[in-house]
Amino acid sequence: MNFELTINTTQDITADIEVIIVSEQNLEHRFVQDRELLEKAGFKGTQDETCLLIEKDRLYVGIDSISSINVRTAVAIAIRTLSNTPYTSIKIASYMNHPKCTAVLRGMVEGFVLGAYSFDRYKSEKSKLAIENITISLDEYNGYELNIEPCSIAMGNGQISAEATNFTRDIVNTTPDDCYPKVMAKIAKKLAKENGLDCKILKPKKLRKEKMETLLAVARASRHKPRVIHLTHKPKDAKAVVTIVGKGLTYDSGGLSLKPSDYMVTMKSDKSGGSAVLGIMKAVSEMNLPIEVHGFIGAVENMIGGDAYKPDDVLVAKNGKTIEIRNTDAEGRLVLADVLCYAQQEVKADYIFDMATLTGASVVGVGHYTSSIMGNSDEVKTMILKASKISGEFATKLDFNRYLKKSLNSEIADICNISNTRYGGAITAGQFLETFIDDHHKDKWAHIDIAGPAFVEHTWGENPHGASGAGVRLMSRLIEGLARPKK
Ligand code: BES
Ligand code: ZN
Ligand code: ZN
Repeated sequence: MNFELTINTTQDITADIEVIIVSEQNLEHRFVQDRELLEKAGFKGTQDETCLLIEKDRLYVGIDSISSINVRTAVAIAIRTLSNTPYTSIKIASYMNHPKCTAVLRGMVEGFVLGAYSFDRYKSEKSKLAIENITISLDEYNGYELNIEPCSIAMGNGQISAEATNFTRDIVNTTPDDCYPKVMAKIAKKLAKENGLDCKILKPKKLRKEKMETLLAVARASRHKPRVIHLTHKPKDAKAVVTIVGKGLTYDSGGLSLKPSDYMVTMKSDKSGGSAVLGIMKAVSEMNLPIEVHGFIGAVENMIGGDAYKPDDVLVAKNGKTIEIRNTDAEGRLVLADVLCYAQQEVKADYIFDMATLTGASVVGVGHYTSSIMGNSDEVKTMILKASKISGEFATKLDFNRYLKKSLNSEIADICNISNTRYGGAITAGQFLETFIDDHHKDKWAHIDIAGPAFVEHTWGENPHGASGAGVRLMSRLIEGLARPKK
């Protein structure tokens, strides 16, 4: 998709269709040229409502008020309605609040790219969106002191982060027999080659040497051997070092603590954290951000079989801590424990984040659309919340407390892999991970449980049915923020 910014008026731009954003309030004004037609069609201008006037080649979309978040969602829904139509080009006004505020422009570009996404790898008949060119008119600001450069940077970064999100969506949506650990490693290698990243793949022999026995135990019953992936974006004069660790369970059957069948469906999405790491590495390298970023992925399949790890086993993690297994479906934290230890051994980071579809409890607690943020440092958690607000991803904090931590105590090992209470499961999973964070990283670490938004079986705003690419826009925005000079 090509974007062009122009100071020409929309009347002077040639395009197949014009997308017009209106709110309920301004629909009452006379200047809305198709007011009567829209009224006849029952169009009210509420957020995300659309009305296509075919004879006029105009597509209206409603909005509550102009903000980057609302514009992102509105244009995503608008472009979605154009699939299977012959339109190849769009023109649209910029709707910037202020000539110096590029956020709406970025939201608009992101919305178009995110809304244009569809996953039809397994469909015989592919859905077709013919839109190739989008021209955005800055006519409203003609005459103001308009600096085009920040506008094009905002648009460029918006396009990169949205395309990286779509890249992650494709990986997550791919079925477990087409995307297993070796395939994830292949995707990482290809990305590294194309984007100039360093790429290290650890196979079972090396994993054993590195004493990643808990990860290996989870992987044992699968015919697909595990991989740990380490991608590095290392610019000269980096301003900070960031590590991101992703849970890449290419399938989670639950293991011997087998999931009920209707809970197992969608568990191809248990690789969402690792897939987000791939998307983030793509975005930060394409934006050429002056931050050193390390992406680690624990790519494993959790299956059943004669060789499966068991409830009652005691496993030894890479850092020597012993873990009593009481439920093999709490496997993500075991994989992450070893990969977090490995990542800390390899890199001394200023910030260390992990991203995982870790618990159903997070979905119960905060719903399908929101990620749960946990950690020891309010500063780090607030940083993530700020990035979430501008990125268009929803996130909320869940606080640790020492009483919940005790519920992980084991009578026979250092820690148990599940808590002894049925409540607060997202937090206790976070507190389990905390025990694998070294002291010097304790206040630099945050855990992001993306189980809610990573995979949802209906469209919501700019997100399609299935994988949303959760974490990619959030983390690239956070890393972009670290790259900006402090005011
Ligand atoms: N991958 C699941 C968590 C999950 C659930 C992700 C629903 C997305 C949607 C994880 O491995 C898991 O099964 N966790 C268990 C933990 C429990 C056994 C303590 C859970 O949440 O039920
Ligand atoms: Zn599980
Ligand atoms: Zn899982």
